[in-house]
Amino acid sequence: MQDKINQYLAEIEAIDPQNKVELEDFRLKYLSKKGLISVLFEDFKIVPNEQKKAIGAEINKLKQFADSKFLEFQDLISTKEESDNESTIDLSLPPIAHETGTRHPLWLVKNRIIEIFERMGFSIAEGPEIEDDWHNFSALNFAENHPARDMQDTFFVNLNPDIALRTHTSSVQVRTMETQKPPIRVLSPGRVFRNEAITARAHCFFHQIEGLYINENVSVKDLKQTLLYFAQEFFGKKTQIRMRPSYFPFTEPSVEVDISCQICGGKGCNVCKHSGWVEIMGAGMVDPQVLENCGIDSKKYAGFAFGMGIERITMLKYQIKDLRLFSENDVRFLRQFHHV
Ligand code: DAH
Repeated sequence: MQDKINQYLAEIEAIDPQNKVELEDFRLKYLSKKGLISVLFEDFKIVPNEQKKAIGAEINKLKQFADSKFLEFQDLISTKEESDNESTIDLSLPPIAHETGTRHPLWLVKNRIIEIFERMGFSIAEGPEIEDDWHNFSALNFAENHPARDMQDTFFVNLNPDIALRTHTSSVQVRTMETQKPPIRVLSPGRVFRNEAITARAHCFFHQIEGLYINENVSVKDLKQTLLYFAQEFFGKKTQIRMRPSYFPFTEPSVEVDISCQICGGKGCNVCKHSGWVEIMGAGMVDPQVLENCGIDSKKYAGFAFGMGIERITMLKYQIKDLRLFSENDVRFLRQFHHV
């Protein structure tokens, strides 16, 4: 009997079933009800009493060994089959490529504008979108009862009427003049907010770029030449500009700046409403009172400022007719823009 036990131990030690069928053969041969180990337990009944203890222990050891081998191979084979199944995936199928996104047209235009002004020595200054009355209005000479302060134009913070979403990037002029000493040459891009109904031509948020230059002996000539350079770089060398008198509380004199129409070259068309000119921004010489409000000596220094809507410039550049397209995030619209 001991010989048989040793023989089976050696056989089981050596087994190496490769699949479920071979494993089942092993189970039937050694572990099933009629298997060799059950036969050993049958034969055990006739083992002489004095050998029963030793032989019994041996048979149990053999049974445990066979059981553990069985479980071990069962695990091995099922994981192997799982991974075999996985490898039946057809790796030759062409993958679905990730689409590369494009930059938002407002982002492209903003950066192009910055690039042009950087060449003239302007650097970037940013300010908060949530602003106080002083930086958005008072320091810029908006009178106490100025209509821009009206609830219809401005989003105020309910709990504090002194705090509002900035209505223009001119607030950054004030912050810059308060903290820097002339000469100052900054460009301030950013988002602004107005309490307006959303239509093709108006939105409750949009983007502006503000420019500010403060130094000794700055005049309207500097303003006009700077804006002409910008217009010709951005819209093309043939572009002309003109200035029309206007009014802003923080500039004196104030102007509105037009460029010659890109579509008809000045002859007159629908885009320029047959005038040959389209408006691109507001500008002017910084009002001496504004300089004083911000701690700059208006007898020594003068400056010019300008502000343009990035949406407006983008719409002119690409002939976009509806402002809402910029914030709807329809990729069919967005993917048409690659560079300016
Ligand atoms: N802040 C004005 C607006 O939002 C635009 C503007 C006009 C800015 C004239 C300026 C300026 O800096 O000089 O309508």
